[in-house]
Amino acid sequence: MVKSFITLSPFLLIIFSTLISANPGRNFSETLSPSSLGLKKQKLTHLHFYFHDFITAKHPTTLQIVQPATTNNSSSTSFGSVWVMDDPLTVAPELSSKLVGRAQGFYGSASQSEFGFLMVLNFAFTGGKFNGSTLSVSGRNTIFSAVSEMPIVGGSGFFRFARGYAQAKTHTVDLNTRNAVVEYNVYVLHY
Ligand SMILES: *[C@@H]1O[C@H](CO)[C@@H](O)[C@H](O)[C@H]1NC(C)=O
Ligand SMILES: *[C@@H]1O[C@H](CO)[C@@H](O)[C@H](O)[C@H]1NC(C)=O
Ligand SMILES: *[C@@H]1O[C@H](CO)[C@@H](O)[C@H](O)[C@H]1NC(C)=O
Ligand SMILES: *[C@@H]1O[C@H](CO)[C@@H](O)[C@H](O)[C@H]1NC(C)=O
Repeated sequence: MVKSFITLSPFLLIIFSTLISANPGRNFSETLSPSSLGLKKQKLTHLHFYFHDFITAKHPTTLQIVQPATTNNSSSTSFGSVWVMDDPLTVAPELSSKLVGRAQGFYGSASQSEFGFLMVLNFAFTGGKFNGSTLSVSGRNTIFSAVSEMPIVGGSGFFRFARGYAQAKTHTVDLNTRNAVVEYNVYVLHY
């Protein structure tokens, strides 16, 4: 009896493990071929648009949400301040030009020695084949540099598996109102 159980047990194990792995709720991970998700050749897409950041306006697109009491205007770099943005993205520098999406997220002053912002945002596209797709940015923006480069760390929809970089260049800025138009060139690899 015992002997026959031992002899049978490898077969039982195989049967049980087959039952377990066949249970769709019990798989933690599996290896797939990229083609099972329709992933074929990687593409490189270049996007060019203008970002409109209105701090001083009847309807601001950017609101300051953190002002540290300890720095209260004494920091020349606004160190510790954080803003939330919902900035329109257009194809040309004029706000009246075609809207292609919005930049939604946060930026915070993270440098005590220069204007160096941590930018954490999504470009949420609203036009054409990109409608509903996003690109996620997490990077450092030294806003007074000729060009600032920030990593694209991912994306959704059309831009699944995205990675790349965004280059930001100030187009116009009003230092009194602090309203700015920024030109963006984004290079992104995706499928
Ligand atoms: C569960 O994992 C096994 C082993 O990798 C695999 O054969 C099976 O197709 C998976 N089932 C599901 C529903 O993902
Ligand atoms: C900021 O400074 C002003 C003037 O010195 C003071 O009246 C105000 O209470 C300060 N605000 C905070 C949040 O500390
Ligand atoms: C601090 O700076 C902001 C923005 O420049 C300004 O509106 C505010 O009046 C300043 N506060 C003080 C207390 O100087
Ligand atoms: C984008 O998608 C939304 C939601 O599906 C839809 O309401 C909207 O009309 C689309 N816009 C364009 C320009 O295709």
